[in-house]
Amino acid sequence: MSLAERPAVHDWMNDFDVLEPAFTADPGPRYAEIRSNEPVARTERWGGAWMPTRYDDVVTVAYDVERFSSRDVGVLPFVGLERESDRPPASPPITSDPPDHTWHRRLILPYFSPKAVERYEVFTRELCRELMTAITAEGRHHADAAVEYAQQIPPRVIAEIIGVPREDTDRFVEWTRAVLENGALQPEARLVARKEMLTYFFGLLDSRKKERRDDITSFLLDQEVDGQPLRDGHIVGTITLLLIAGIDTTWSSIGSALLHLATHPEDRRRLVAEPELLPTAVEEFLRAYSPVTMARIATADVELGGRTIHSGDRVLLTFPAANRDPEHFERPDEVLIDRAHNRHVAFGVGIHRCAGSNLARMEMQVAIGEWLSALADFELDPHGELTFAGGQVRGPRNLPVTY
Ligand code: HEM
Repeated sequence: MSLAERPAVHDWMNDFDVLEPAFTADPGPRYAEIRSNEPVARTERWGGAWMPTRYDDVVTVAYDVERFSSRDVGVLPFVGLERESDRPPASPPITSDPPDHTWHRRLILPYFSPKAVERYEVFTRELCRELMTAITAEGRHHADAAVEYAQQIPPRVIAEIIGVPREDTDRFVEWTRAVLENGALQPEARLVARKEMLTYFFGLLDSRKKERRDDITSFLLDQEVDGQPLRDGHIVGTITLLLIAGIDTTWSSIGSALLHLATHPEDRRRLVAEPELLPTAVEEFLRAYSPVTMARIATADVELGGRTIHSGDRVLLTFPAANRDPEHFERPDEVLIDRAHNRHVAFGVGIHRCAGSNLARMEMQVAIGEWLSALADFELDPHGELTFAGGQVRGPRNLPVTY
């Protein structure tokens, strides 16, 4: 089904469409409508799914790992990939359930501790400065803040962590977009991208087997579980997860923050005048413009918000809706860059809570800080086209600004 062929949505409570363009551009009003009418919405589109919109319901599903499995966390099903060999390989720890999840996750955590992330801050800052030098070059007054800036940062940082050459990062962006962003509409392209990605990473593994380097690929090759080294498939599954989980998410968050600042001059001026507010502002951007929705598969019949979810049903973990729930956040639809109480769930909650949150926060703070230091005065270009990606990860993909 193409985007153009889909029938319009008339009933968001019983026929929602996560890829509807107006919803992708600004989902907040729809979440509010659903929450106050039928807080757990249903659709038969895209293979069928439930969408809880209340904070408490989302958190309940995330914590209930017994009755909601992570074996398929995709918001959109793998249409056209019916053959077993075409199915995506496991991506531990995100697709792992207990008890294996514990050791799958423990293996990667050392690489994402606050201390470990400090190592990448200098690199990230230099990269942002380089990008801003190009954007603010003599005579330039227009840029695409998503394509030329937000999109350039996370792939290069993650390439550094995984240990692959910088020049390969454009291919990462293509793979990630094909797998995550366009995959539901172009399943064949998704398959091709995934095969290329797996071939690339099995090749990387072979080269690290011959010679270790200071990167997470080499680190995982040296780990043992019950006296046995990890399977190659496990390592490659984890590496591809880091790539996919680390790129679109952070790029979307940086883009959404820059879009907010391009359209809210008072917040922009305040952040320039009070840079110490940046960490608080970043949490508020994460809350208000949460990019990530995940999914679970019910393993039993479960009552949620007055609806009966059946075993085998897909349930969306709508973290962006939870973060706008008025039961948990005052003035939820306003962006308050000095919001003091902000227990948002943009990074998820429970055993699968984002393993890369320290890295993501660092990248956001450095990226927004460096942009504002180099270019304090900018606004949305009324002649350019603002575009968004949605579904699993929502955020601007073209963000034309003028200065
Ligand atoms: C602003 C950026 C990011 C956001 C909003 C975000 C959000 C999330 C969310 C909501 C989950 C929970 C998934 C679930 O419950 O099924 C998650 C898991 C995960 N994220 Fe992130 N993420 C971001 C950046 C990153 C980065 C930079 C990395 C590292 C490269 C990363 C690595 C992971 C991993 C490995 C998991 C799986 C953890 C587990 O299953 O135990 N994320 N992320």
